[in-house]
Amino acid sequence: MKIFIDSADVEEIRDAAAMGVVDGVTTNPSLVAKSGRPMRAVIEEICEVVDGPVSAEVIATDTEGIVREGRELAAIHPNVVVKVPLIADGIRAVRQLTDADIKTNVTLCFSAPQAMLAAKAGATYISPFLGRIDDIGGDGLELIEQLVTIYGNYAYPTQVLAASIRHPLHLVRCAELGADVATIPYKVILQLLKHPLTDKGLAQFLADAKKIPS
Ligand code: E4P
Repeated sequence: MKIFIDSADVEEIRDAAAMGVVDGVTTNPSLVAKSGRPMRAVIEEICEVVDGPVSAEVIATDTEGIVREGRELAAIHPNVVVKVPLIADGIRAVRQLTDADIKTNVTLCFSAPQAMLAAKAGATYISPFLGRIDDIGGDGLELIEQLVTIYGNYAYPTQVLAASIRHPLHLVRCAELGADVATIPYKVILQLLKHPLTDKGLAQFLADAKKIPS
């Protein structure tokens, strides 16, 4: 399973990338706004830090605007993947961008029918937001399972990119279900490392190491 970091904070992306565990990056307008920097500058810098797919989201909501903006974003760096909202105009734009050999990540997916249309339009990635489904009392993991099954049944090349991951168990379940990619916030990447028995065991080993005669 590939792991992307869901962030527009270049310092935390740099830190996670230094661990050697980051295959790509996803951003969204909220994350870029939080960085307080212009979209283009942020995406350019991220592409220097991580050698993998970097999703940058369009702001336009009409097909022509999405395609225009998508072409501009894709021109920033060959690794840029154009993130497009899952609306009718977005799906039309995905078809045009795909035909122009531009990679797309269809975002804000909350149902299997939506994901089927994205795959038919040629999306490179589909981003089901599992945490946001859980937030409203639904079952986000059930959607991941459905998409992996449906795409697998028809060998759609669109990759399931599990998004809106809130905690380590989400990641583990997505891996068990066969999601191609999970995009996770920096905070959750750090949580993945944590286990009290590791800390306790290390403290004991270090204490015992002092007793080893030289
Ligand atoms: C994915 O591409 C989105 O940027 C992200 O995962 C959304 O997560 P959130 O629901 O925590 O905002």
